[in-house]
Amino acid sequence: MPFTDALRTLKAKAPFVPDLAIVLGSGLGALADSPEARAGLSIPFTDLPGFPAPTVAGHGGKLVFCEFEGRKVALQAGRFHFYEGHPMPLVIAPMRLYGRLGTKAVLLTNAAGALNPTFGVGDLMALSDHINLFGTNPLIGPNVEPGPRFPDMTAVYDPAFRNHLQACATQLGQTLREGVYLGLTGPCYETPAEIRAFRLMGADAVGMSTVPEAIVARHEGMRVAGISCLCNMAAGILPQALTHQEVLEAGAAAAGRFEALVRAFVRSLPL
Ligand code: 6GU
Repeated sequence: MPFTDALRTLKAKAPFVPDLAIVLGSGLGALADSPEARAGLSIPFTDLPGFPAPTVAGHGGKLVFCEFEGRKVALQAGRFHFYEGHPMPLVIAPMRLYGRLGTKAVLLTNAAGALNPTFGVGDLMALSDHINLFGTNPLIGPNVEPGPRFPDMTAVYDPAFRNHLQACATQLGQTLREGVYLGLTGPCYETPAEIRAFRLMGADAVGMSTVPEAIVARHEGMRVAGISCLCNMAAGILPQALTHQEVLEAGAAAAGRFEALVRAFVRSLPL
């Protein structure tokens, strides 16, 4: 197991074993500054041996242990993206840490582009499945015991969690889309030809994170839920070009609905 020093440090600092770890994606980090989070224990990534400071604007870089909607949670603001040049072991290191702490579930969130033309900017989408186009796999290398060498990926995104997300959305009067997230390295956005190809492959959204984390979370035996904030339509679906700014703005516009959904999910989590 890599990051043993980070695990030792985290075990020494963590006030409890979280029931759930929540990874907050681009523009969705406000929960890590909520009243509950400010009352909790904040651990900067840089306190963990082997963890560098994140580089992308709009991404934090801390782990907050707090009581949230009646549960013990770890809120992760910021993540290590492969496109930043970080090695894959660092990209997925938080999942190894949660797994080794004894956390049983993770909620992975991200900002993504919509491919499905029936979806709109600002929609939230529960991940039903993913397509790994990172060109690599986070489990390559010696197997990290006791996970299986060839883990099953039939139901990466826990069906009970997906049902629960839909029930929460209904109760809130929200529409929650559901679809397949295609993950790739970035950092450039896709070409219109790539997006047409990915639609034929069955993808509904595209982004630059989440897939390696979901794979490793499953390898750790944790249950996984995923929510994408569809911050823009993917290339070629609309006439205009894509900017990181519009992604951040759409994330901010969806932040209220996102927060309400996450709170409802945690409050009545079927653990
Ligand atoms: Cl359109 N593509 C990718 N790869 N990531 C995104 C995105 C698009 N929109 C937000 N994140």
